[in-house]
Amino acid sequence: MSSKLIAPSMLAADFGNLQRDTEMVNNSEADWFHIDVMDGHFVPNISYGMPVIQAIKKHATKPLDVHLMIEKPERYIEEFAKVGADIITVHYESTIHLHRTLTQIEDAGCKAGVVLNLTTPVSVLEDILPKCYMVLLMSINPGFGGQKFEDITYHRITKLRKMIDERGLDTRIEVDGGVTDKNIKQLVDAGADVFVAGSHVFKNPDPTETIKQLKTLANS
Ligand code: DX5
Ligand code: ZN
Repeated sequence: MSSKLIAPSMLAADFGNLQRDTEMVNNSEADWFHIDVMDGHFVPNISYGMPVIQAIKKHATKPLDVHLMIEKPERYIEEFAKVGADIITVHYESTIHLHRTLTQIEDAGCKAGVVLNLTTPVSVLEDILPKCYMVLLMSINPGFGGQKFEDITYHRITKLRKMIDERGLDTRIEVDGGVTDKNIKQLVDAGADVFVAGSHVFKNPDPTETIKQLKTLANS
């Protein structure tokens, strides 16, 4: 894939200034908004749900990439589509009938993707891969921003890239957790296409410039 994409994670935004931070992303070189939904069951943290997504959607001019870290996500797909999700990813570990859940996402008019926890083998994707617009590989244990990137991710990306290419698919590989200007180039070399960055972007005094830097590094 030619252009590598940057998806700032709104989990690290200032919720008191959500419109300002949404407009910052609009006016930056970012490609998507990454939206983390946590239920306090699948992951040990609670983030936000439909009303906050709707508030972001109201101002966003770029696609919303909604990452569901919730148990039985099939209960809420239509609602997430209704509040403006463009891409919905569900964890392999969170839904029993994965194929059915992806179909439900497609039927709701969204692009469908699967997320794997840090050590769930990429081989479990073998049969579902043709149905995936994207696979999101977690590079941390999900639940919190600001954690350290885990190096095992590199060989997981390489393995998955090989599976995708061997099948002639155009499934994107997204990486989420601890992405910075220090590791993005190596992630591109391993075969990733989309990069989520939360704290690295929002904790920087100049988030717009940080996004631009990530975009340039990823595409150089
Ligand atoms: C964590 C979330 C991530 C998080 C990334 O479970 O899925 O999207 O916001 O944050 P950073 O970039 O700070 O690791
Ligand atoms: Zn995420």
